[in-house]
Amino acid sequence: MTDIPPTSSAPARPGLFLAFEGGEGAGKSTQVGLLREWLSAAGRDVIVTREPGGTDIGERVRTILLEHGQGEVDPRTEALLFAASRAAHVVQKIRPAIEAGQVVVSDRFVDSSLAYQGAGRELGVEAVADLNDWATEGMVPDLTVLLDVAPAISKARREARDLGAPGDRIESAEETFHARLRDAFLGRAAQAPERYLVLDGTLPAPEVHARIREALEPMLNV
Ligand code: TYD
Repeated sequence: MTDIPPTSSAPARPGLFLAFEGGEGAGKSTQVGLLREWLSAAGRDVIVTREPGGTDIGERVRTILLEHGQGEVDPRTEALLFAASRAAHVVQKIRPAIEAGQVVVSDRFVDSSLAYQGAGRELGVEAVADLNDWATEGMVPDLTVLLDVAPAISKARREARDLGAPGDRIESAEETFHARLRDAFLGRAAQAPERYLVLDGTLPAPEVHARIREALEPMLNV
């Protein structure tokens, strides 16, 4: 008897999983908000979530990770905490919503760990990818929107936003760290261009939004 080869593509999901990635000040929150409005107006059942966070466990882990004054957090502990928060996020929120046919929009996902912990903290992108693959049971967004901005612009935007207040523990890392993570984000997108939409985060917000809509229309049938 001849073996029947497996079909090449995974079965379509009832819902859709979209992630936004990029450095600080890339305009993710603005774009996530615009996308939510557009999807809701188009009659789609949309849930917006974020990392670290998105669940009770995730929000508690977020406090440990981002607030100053929680003591020293070494890079491996940091990577494991992000992965733990993400595992809960996938099991408790993302997967059930996709299975229920919702459109899930997450402000950051696995690529943030690959960039910040893998490249930024120099734990190695491959090692952090393996950890996250295990934590998420291989959950991959249908599309990741990467908003790209140069580190100097992202710093200036963040300072303007926070009116000169010191950034959170991770934002306060040195400039070469931010350059490493930008390269990692772009490298990731280059490896699977069909699953990424890379946009210049310095373009006006309405233009960035229009490009995101254009990319999503065929996926959403709107
Ligand atoms: P947040 O306040 O959500 O910032 P932003 O508006 O930039 O998304 O803070 C999230 C911070 O955590 C940000 O500095 C990126 C960092 N981070 C990681 O280092 N690894 C991760 O896996 C995730 C999800 C975030």
